[in-house]
Amino acid sequence: MSHIAPLIPDDAPFSSAERAFINGWIAAYYATDVATPISAAPATVGEFPWHDASLPLDRRMEIAAGQPMPQLLMAAMAQQDCGQCGYLCRTYAAAIAEGKEKALTRCVPGGKETARKLKELLETGGASAPATVLAAPAAATIAPDTSGPATVAAQFRGARPLNRAGSAKDTRQVVLNLYGSGLRYQTGDSIGIMPTNCPETVAAIIEELGADPHADVDAPNSKRLPLREALSRACDIGRPSDEAVEVLASRARDPDQSQRLQALAEGYPGAEPEGADLLELLTVFPSARPPLQELILALAPLQPRLYSIACSPLVHGGEVHLTVAAVRWEKRGRARKGIASCFLAERATEETTMPVFVQPPAHRFRPPESDDAPMIMIGPGTGIAPFRAFLQERRENGAKGRNWLFFGDQRRATDFLYEDELITWHKEGLLSRLDVAFSRDQPERIYVQQRMREQSARLWRWLNDGAYVFVCGAMAMGRDVDTALAAIVARQGGMGIGAAKAYLAQLGREGRFVKDVY
Ligand SMILES: Cc1cc2nc3c(=O)[nH]c(=O)nc-3n(C[C@H](O)[C@H](O)[C@H](O)COP(=O)(O)OP(=O)(O)OC[C@H]3O[C@@H](n4cnc5c(N)ncnc54)[C@H](O)[C@@H]3O)c2cc1C
Ligand SMILES: NC(=O)c1ccc[n+]([C@@H]2O[C@H](COP(=O)([O-])OP(=O)(O)OC[C@H]3O[C@@H](n4cnc5c(N)ncnc54)[C@H](OP(=O)(O)O)[C@@H]3O)[C@@H](O)[C@H]2O)c1
Repeated sequence: MSHIAPLIPDDAPFSSAERAFINGWIAAYYATDVATPISAAPATVGEFPWHDASLPLDRRMEIAAGQPMPQLLMAAMAQQDCGQCGYLCRTYAAAIAEGKEKALTRCVPGGKETARKLKELLETGGASAPATVLAAPAAATIAPDTSGPATVAAQFRGARPLNRAGSAKDTRQVVLNLYGSGLRYQTGDSIGIMPTNCPETVAAIIEELGADPHADVDAPNSKRLPLREALSRACDIGRPSDEAVEVLASRARDPDQSQRLQALAEGYPGAEPEGADLLELLTVFPSARPPLQELILALAPLQPRLYSIACSPLVHGGEVHLTVAAVRWEKRGRARKGIASCFLAERATEETTMPVFVQPPAHRFRPPESDDAPMIMIGPGTGIAPFRAFLQERRENGAKGRNWLFFGDQRRATDFLYEDELITWHKEGLLSRLDVAFSRDQPERIYVQQRMREQSARLWRWLNDGAYVFVCGAMAMGRDVDTALAAIVARQGGMGIGAAKAYLAQLGREGRFVKDVY
């Protein structure tokens, strides 16, 4: 069966380069038989132009406008293929479109924004999707990975501070023991850990609810548990689902509180308190006290969190090392804590075991197959994690390829994570180059991109020598590194910025430019 490929109209809200790219993509899509199954392998930007985690949701939806429902649902996902939902972005979308998956809140990095967009798309039937294309079975043939990863119990061994006294940050080298679990991993994998919620917050919620901590309830994970345990290990109390907020709204006795809660549940712009956790909602809206079971079942299940594995199995086979930034902030006079990062940094002890699973990288985020290929690694902050593993692996294999690391953090004196190892590896020659950017050691912020720009000519030579480029760390950094790299390629290669982006896209397709950002 063949189809005539539609072209997006000239007045569609795209630049000419984007239009050409999307038209090319649509043409390629229609050139294939629509009944051809889309493989369950991770998607690429080439296949799905919105599959770029650095694009905001609105932009992704614009790019996907007019596509069939599974593709629209996919564009609403955070595009990280992080696996925390138990699928890839594309297979989660396909499962929802097929009606096999009912939960719309599984996309952890997409959060409420994604959950709301999924709901809206399903309610409106993806208003802009043409009916003829809506019927296309393409995504109906995507097989959701319902088998789930193998989960084992890992034992916590420690969380050594990587920052020195006086740092504004708290980054830990977490070690988990896998001995006897049978769990195997490869360099470039992440590990998913199932945290528990902060016991003080759980106790405060139970007190606010005036409930019995031992009362049995049906938890969102389909188990019957005592309330305290359900709130500790089964419910997302950090980001109460819209459904839970609606339950609170419908049961609030005070009409004003009910209205404010309803506005929050519907995501009204300016609805307050934005980003509230369950305890905050119960405190701010004391008249909202729904029946316990109704509230608990409306909460989303607590999701695992992923951490890049910071060691090579060739060196630390029975263990995994992680590099975890403890997330802490303050709101309404209450200290707030990231659930998993503070579970690992503060609460876990040598007696603690936790369910873990191995999550392979979404893209080809692994050391190059050829030991001779040059490798450029850009990993500020916790982005250093996988590169410690890459370097351990190359060292262990006696790989001859040149290695270049760009690292950055706030201050050299306190935040040079793994400083001793990195300096030793530089002296040994394992690291041919180590370029560092300490953002707050001078009045103006200096980031890794600045060091890249200073090394433009050398970077270009390495690229021409076949170097692989890997980027890992926070999302905003990943986006800015993209921009910097495109500018470097444009200047050094004597090409326009569009051509430079196409050059990088081609490197991406060859697995020579790979990002893992969160
Ligand atoms: C593939 C992958 C690899 C990763 N690797 C690593 C890694 O190696 N190291 C690492 O540290 N992390 C890594 N992460 C991120 C990690 O999975 C968690 O997202 C992170 O640790 C935060 O989780 P948490 O449970 O501690 O915080 P959560 O309880 O999920 O809270 C985080 C949320 O708190 C809110 N928040 C945070 N700060 C503020 C603030 N100042 N004001 C208001 N609200 C705020 C935001 O809504 C934020 O989304 C990775 C993620 C992915 C997808
Ligand atoms: N709330 C918390 O307590 C807390 C604590 C740690 C991490 N986190 C979050 O966890 C994630 C990862 O943290 P992390 O420790 O890996 O690193 P990070 O906070 O991203 O910082 C690492 C280095 O990157 C710099 N940086 C910031 N923006 C950048 C950009 N656009 N381009 C290049 N470099 C940039 C930082 O500089 P500057 O910091 O000087 O701008 C710092 O020098 C981030 O999303 C962070 O927000 C939160």
